[in-house]
Amino acid sequence: MALPKIVFIGSGKGGVGKSTIAVNLAIALSHHTGLEVGLLDADLYGPSLPIMLGLRNMNPRLLNSPTGEEKVAPFYKFGIKIQSIGFFLEEARSLAWRGPMLHGALEKMLKETFWGNLDYLLIDLPPGTGDIPISLTQLLNVQGAIVVTTPQEVAILDAIKAINSFYQLQVPLLGVIENMAGFTVPETGKTYSIFGEGKGEELARRFQVPLLGRVPLIEEIRIGGDDGYPSACRQGQAFHYFQEIQEAFLAIIGSQGGQ
Ligand SMILES: Nc1ncnc2c1ncn2[C@@H]1O[C@H](COP(=O)(O)OP(=O)(O)O)[C@@H](O)[C@H]1O
Ligand SMILES: [Mg+2]
Repeated sequence: MALPKIVFIGSGKGGVGKSTIAVNLAIALSHHTGLEVGLLDADLYGPSLPIMLGLRNMNPRLLNSPTGEEKVAPFYKFGIKIQSIGFFLEEARSLAWRGPMLHGALEKMLKETFWGNLDYLLIDLPPGTGDIPISLTQLLNVQGAIVVTTPQEVAILDAIKAINSFYQLQVPLLGVIENMAGFTVPETGKTYSIFGEGKGEELARRFQVPLLGRVPLIEEIRIGGDDGYPSACRQGQAFHYFQEIQEAFLAIIGSQGGQ
């Protein structure tokens, strides 16, 4: 069985839409290619995938793997396989864990999950440059990282720190996604650049990687996240943005060597 290509979805700042992009990119990838896509929520401080995917308060199912070991099955929904540290923790329990405990929790989750066939595994990281990406690179062979940022100066500065820390972990930057890039008033068609303009492109140019997409602020995206029914599953206003991102993602990852 070929090993999946494993990709970090990271950012410097929190709240820039990392989880939103990870969820919708994973669904769009599976939907448009028929490939087996896994999505792993590694945000131990604020796992949001169970809510965004309508899997709140669900308990993972145990199964016997082909080797006879008892494993945990990922959830299968919207065409993707989903595992989250959130399924193992009580919701809203804040975590004040230190490095070794984090490492132990991630290792346990990775060892106990039976993914079956997988072509891609996207990993939704917590914001910043902490212990979690370090642990994950010790446990997995990570192909590269996609960094999500808003077009705002402070977000870009933090994104640069995150990118540099990924390079230190031998995880190359594959591309940048600019999120919350402008808001167009539906009634008037007038666009407001609430979080600034053009900085994602500048960031991509600086690191000589492609800008994989620009997603505007769209209410439907926020609603999709809160309702557990992501935009990549609805033929709405936001659908084509995620389709374009998955095409750009495939173009760049296709040019990277396999494992
Ligand atoms: N393009 C967008 N348009 C509207 N709301 C968005 C968009 N991207 C993200 N959001 C919303 O912003 C909030 C933060 O996004 P989230 O993906 O949780 O960020 P992060 O994972 O980086 O902390 C969520 O409520 C999400 O639904
Ligand atoms: Mg998140």
